[in-house]
Amino acid sequence: MRRLLPDPGPTTVERQLDTYRPWEHPHPDRPLVAMNFASTVDGRATIDGVSGPIGSDADTAMLVGLRRRFDAVMIGAGTMRAERYGRLAGKDETREQRRQLDLAPEPLMVIVSGRLDLPWDAPLFTAGGGEVLVFTATETEPPETASPLQVVRHEGAVNLVEAMRHLRRERGINALLCEGGPHLHDQLQADGLVDDLFLTTAPKLSGGNAPRIIEGPLPGVVELELSWLVEEDGELFARYRCR
Ligand SMILES: NC(=O)c1ccc[n+]([C@@H]2O[C@H](COP(=O)([O-])OP(=O)(O)OC[C@H]3O[C@@H](n4cnc5c(N)ncnc54)[C@H](OP(=O)(O)O)[C@@H]3O)[C@@H](O)[C@H]2O)c1
Repeated sequence: MRRLLPDPGPTTVERQLDTYRPWEHPHPDRPLVAMNFASTVDGRATIDGVSGPIGSDADTAMLVGLRRRFDAVMIGAGTMRAERYGRLAGKDETREQRRQLDLAPEPLMVIVSGRLDLPWDAPLFTAGGGEVLVFTATETEPPETASPLQVVRHEGAVNLVEAMRHLRRERGINALLCEGGPHLHDQLQADGLVDDLFLTTAPKLSGGNAPRIIEGPLPGVVELELSWLVEEDGELFARYRCR
């Protein structure tokens, strides 16, 4: 793996992320928020309906390395339905690495769901470890889950500004990694809630009508500043700052 920008030279996922300490930079009313996405060169965020076939092992390593450095990981219900997440930090090694950074052993998993139409048989809910917080807009009760589950209800739709304030003030979340999907990303950008965008561009073309990394009526253009660019086997790993 080599860094192309800002100072060219050899690097690794660990070395690249070593000085990235998002938990030290929360906002007064919300966590620092970073988005992570993988895309094909033609801008597609899924292949056959999921993101897995887009990136390489290096992309997975970057994602795992990032997760290790955040207090919470957030996704939308559409991503949970498609990707069926499991527990985020079940391995002792991961938990120990987080402890060494003075972070809680396991990130809080946060899901934004209008209808609570979630795959309740997915490992995230059945594993029995790792806390899950769901922001929802329905009065429907969730089923019993083996993993600890908290539901926070909003009227009409989840107000993401309020949700972020809740995470910061009530849960002490200083840094949140949002892993999509494209509709949730659109709203977070529209509300000005995103600080960093990590984007993997895989050297692939997939065509078709698959979504892009942002789907929805963004009210204006968001200007991005390239903070770093890393390459391995033709795959590009960019970190952008959202202005
Ligand atoms: N390439 C990548 O890096 C990547 C990353 C993530 C996801 N993906 C792909 O993206 C696809 C899913 O995308 P998506 O855009 O449909 O999913 P999404 O953004 O994860 O989820 C959309 C859903 O989230 C809920 N939601 C979002 N904002 C809400 C609000 N303010 N209030 C209430 N509910 C809200 C709604 O849930 P309800 O339906 O419950 O109302 C909505 O239908 C999947 O195929 C996944 O594989 C790719």
